[in-house]
Amino acid sequence: MKAIWIEKYGPPEVIEIKEIDTPNLEADEMLVKVYASSINTVDTSARSGVKALFGLSRLMTGIRKPKKKLTGTDVAGEIVAIEKDITKFKIGDQIYGLARTGSCAEYAKVSERGVVLKPSTMNYSEAAAVPVAALTALQYLRDLGNIQDGQDILIYGASGGIGTFAIQYAKTFDVTITAVCSGKNEQLVADLGADKVIDYTKEDFTKNKEKYDIIFDTVGKSPQGRWKNALKEEGIFLQAGSPKMSLTRLFLQILGNRFRKKKMRFLITKTRAKDLSLLAKLIDEGKIKSVIDKSFSLDETAEAHRYYEKGHTVGKVTITIDHKEVK
Ligand SMILES: NC(=O)c1ccc[n+]([C@@H]2O[C@H](COP(=O)([O-])OP(=O)(O)OC[C@H]3O[C@@H](n4cnc5c(N)ncnc54)[C@H](OP(=O)(O)O)[C@@H]3O)[C@@H](O)[C@H]2O)c1
Repeated sequence: MKAIWIEKYGPPEVIEIKEIDTPNLEADEMLVKVYASSINTVDTSARSGVKALFGLSRLMTGIRKPKKKLTGTDVAGEIVAIEKDITKFKIGDQIYGLARTGSCAEYAKVSERGVVLKPSTMNYSEAAAVPVAALTALQYLRDLGNIQDGQDILIYGASGGIGTFAIQYAKTFDVTITAVCSGKNEQLVADLGADKVIDYTKEDFTKNKEKYDIIFDTVGKSPQGRWKNALKEEGIFLQAGSPKMSLTRLFLQILGNRFRKKKMRFLITKTRAKDLSLLAKLIDEGKIKSVIDKSFSLDETAEAHRYYEKGHTVGKVTITIDHKEVK
């Protein structure tokens, strides 16, 4: 099968297009014919070998070179083979979710833990845009933020992958949403459900005296250290994006949680079928949709990484595979 392969860490140029064997399946795995994937930081970081979490990320991705050669995590496609321990799916099912061993290929292997039936109202590209970004939005706002009706929520990086899903998920509650993005994306975030919009190129939200129950920084670029000024007394700051800060400063921020009511929290997005099903339900009810900035073919995956890494994606960047074109 045709696959996107990474042998060494580096810029998008290290990406190779390779002919490799279709993955072998374990007893609890299924083979998916991949129709679409999308780009997330987890994929570009695994390629670049960026030393996130102060270098600790290399323990997972490989010290000198990537352990995982196949790139891609989000997947949408059709089940074409199942092994004996699979009980919830059959051949022909259209699924979406996470293929942790790689999804930028003609075929990918997945487990029942990582995929569910695709929302019926979405095509493959729209569905592949959802998993990592929307799970992150959901798990941050619900599990860490304990989002409740009546709250004031600020979403920073509101026009990006996580941000566009965060607005829509937050809107399923009776909350007031302030979205922070650049001026060119104001209309988009308002259409998705933002009640107020702040253009970060003109205004620093930490200085306008408004207070929020939840501040969700989806891109790690909010004014670091000043979030406390904009939180209500028992408010919470959710940090999903990786901010540029020293280990000492991060440690002090986490330590500070013990002594102040205003907390800073982060989590690692979990692969959870139950959450993918909840998202599929919200999608099919018309409450959540994918915003797709640009779609690339499998052969253009390096270009897709380059585009995403500029950091100004509006919604998501997807990869689509036209199987008629694949040898
Ligand atoms: N904790 C976890 O498990 C987890 C999981 C997934 C992702 N993440 C993190 O989430 C981040 C990526 O999220 P994503 O894929 O949603 O990002 P993304 O789609 O690349 O975000 C792009 C958006 O960021 C906005 N942006 C760029 N610079 C900005 C600035 N200075 N201030 C405000 N907004 C700005 C852009 O808006 P404009 O064009 O208008 O500037 C653009 O719409 C990464 O840091 C990643 O590590 C964490």
